[in-house]
Amino acid sequence: MAQYYNPASEDLRPGEMTFKNYFGPPILETRMPDDVFTGMRKIGDKIIEKENPVNYGANLAGQIVDELAVPRQDLVDIGILDYFELMGKQFIMSSSSMLGSPMSDEFFEKVRTKITNMWLVNQIQGEYNPVHLHTRCSISAVMYLKIPRFTDRGIPNKRKQDGDITFVYSSAGDPINSFERSIMSFSPREGYMYMFPATLLHTVYPFIGQGNRVSVSFNMIHGIDDDDAFAGMYSDVFKIEDKFEGELMTEWELKTNPNNKIESNEKWFIPEQKNEQG
Ligand SMILES: [Fe+2]
Repeated sequence: MAQYYNPASEDLRPGEMTFKNYFGPPILETRMPDDVFTGMRKIGDKIIEKENPVNYGANLAGQIVDELAVPRQDLVDIGILDYFELMGKQFIMSSSSMLGSPMSDEFFEKVRTKITNMWLVNQIQGEYNPVHLHTRCSISAVMYLKIPRFTDRGIPNKRKQDGDITFVYSSAGDPINSFERSIMSFSPREGYMYMFPATLLHTVYPFIGQGNRVSVSFNMIHGIDDDDAFAGMYSDVFKIEDKFEGELMTEWELKTNPNNKIESNEKWFIPEQKNEQG
């Protein structure tokens, strides 16, 4: 069988082929650099051990008790906020290539990403996250900090799905017959991160066994900074940043939803409306 590889269209030589997949939402998978992973674990441990952590659960879909807000400042303090915003840019650039409209270097320079909120999910056995999507953002991500050993259910001839994250895109048939995939699952691995369009439906299955399945998720907005004009779904948020450095999300939230008061003096990422994501 011929060696499979994926040359650019213009590099094709007679007799060679390439394979394209223009349709469907892209998912970025990465294994985080050691310093980012270690930093996130420290932040996670600190939040879990906190006496009065801010519970973020009212904003999330998860049937999970322990869903805790991650303060933006924690990431800034250890210098890893930039990593995640850079990965957002990487996601945008790779997506544009995959979808057949590669971005020029010059255009890429103008892409801006901003994390709007981040939260930790400390899941124990029996808890789960129903199918949901994320609102008021364009890109979402999840990273895995601690994965316990799941107890085998012992049901013969079943693929193990406990603790998996499953993305649901459509009702296509099986991949072989329809040449399209509608459901894709990943078993969580410590240190791995997945980035995906915020509107892509996903769910997390429960597991049995001792220990905690600890993940951190975040939402991001993006836009194009083109001299005076800033183009993007959430361009107003980028503009406000210049005026309210460090308090952007609080100000924006109060502006757009005056009933949603922030109780804490700390600068949290933007709170989402209830039960829209998880
Ligand atoms: Fe989610």
